[in-house]
Amino acid sequence: MENLNFRRHRRLRRTAAMRGLVRETELTPAHLIYPIFVQAGLSGRTPIEAMPGQFRLGLDAVAEEARTVSRLGIGGMLLFGLPEAKDEVGSGAWAADGIVQEATRRLKEAAPGLVVIGDVCLCEYTSHGHCGVLRADGSVDNDGTLPLLAETSVSLAEAGCDVIAPSDMMDGRVAVIRAALDGAGLGETVLLSYSAKFASAFYGPFREAADSAPAFGDRRGYQMDPANARMALDEALTDVGEGADMVMVKPALPYLDVLRSVREAVDVPVAAYNVSGEYSMLMAAAERGWIDGDRAVDETLTAIRRAGADIVITYHAKDWAQRQ
Ligand code: PBG
Repeated sequence: MENLNFRRHRRLRRTAAMRGLVRETELTPAHLIYPIFVQAGLSGRTPIEAMPGQFRLGLDAVAEEARTVSRLGIGGMLLFGLPEAKDEVGSGAWAADGIVQEATRRLKEAAPGLVVIGDVCLCEYTSHGHCGVLRADGSVDNDGTLPLLAETSVSLAEAGCDVIAPSDMMDGRVAVIRAALDGAGLGETVLLSYSAKFASAFYGPFREAADSAPAFGDRRGYQMDPANARMALDEALTDVGEGADMVMVKPALPYLDVLRSVREAVDVPVAAYNVSGEYSMLMAAAERGWIDGDRAVDETLTAIRRAGADIVITYHAKDWAQRQ
């Protein structure tokens, strides 16, 4: 056994300090965005059954949540709303006193330094649960939806959202929203586009949390086919061309290859959304003792960063940050 000339890779793994020196990927609370659900008419918080550890918040619970998230050093919050009432066109989305508009004002007052992101989509506000307005035949009307998304974006930005994040997957929305924001004197508002958003089974728990499941059909006519990676690049490049400041890949774990190639194709920051189903799956296995939950979360979030995400949107944000 003398003079064996093989590479000794284990040398760099011998101690914690050595591993720390050669670690390639960094994960800090500042890289994370914590999504919350705010419900009109609710006071306090109620647990979301399909997402253990997550809650719907009443307006009265929002300020405290913002202070907690801010104290933990988490970069920002992403807001979803459950309105008092829904209608055919989703008018609750752009109401000046809408649930997310009100929540934004309270968040900004409680934690002015936090980045507040408004999700722009109609599905939580329409009676039929689709992400846009419908034609007579029940199909989603792309161009008829665009002005409503623009109005929603302006309304959220006026309420104080730092970032507008359209998740509807209508074509042309980034250009129309950018023009509307600029036209309203909101040129500093950042646009984060859900560029490569796949029609995914992993949104299941979210639809319970946000009460946004489509009443009929599915979203495959506007969200992407999980089989397509080149098309995701095309989507991301289109959005950058239309003026997106940042782009997103969603979900994260089943699409790390897409995340990597989007990262290589664009120079703007890239976000990845570790969605509700990814969260619930891990929590369920951890609850049963089948995996070590804390370690699985560390590994998951690190892997999403390693694949190329600058920003990770995750329901684990608070718990993970608390453990650091
Ligand atoms: C709204 C929207 C959805 C999610 C974010 N924005 C649901 C959907 O498209 O059905 C999913 C987020 C998650 O699952 O955590 N369109």
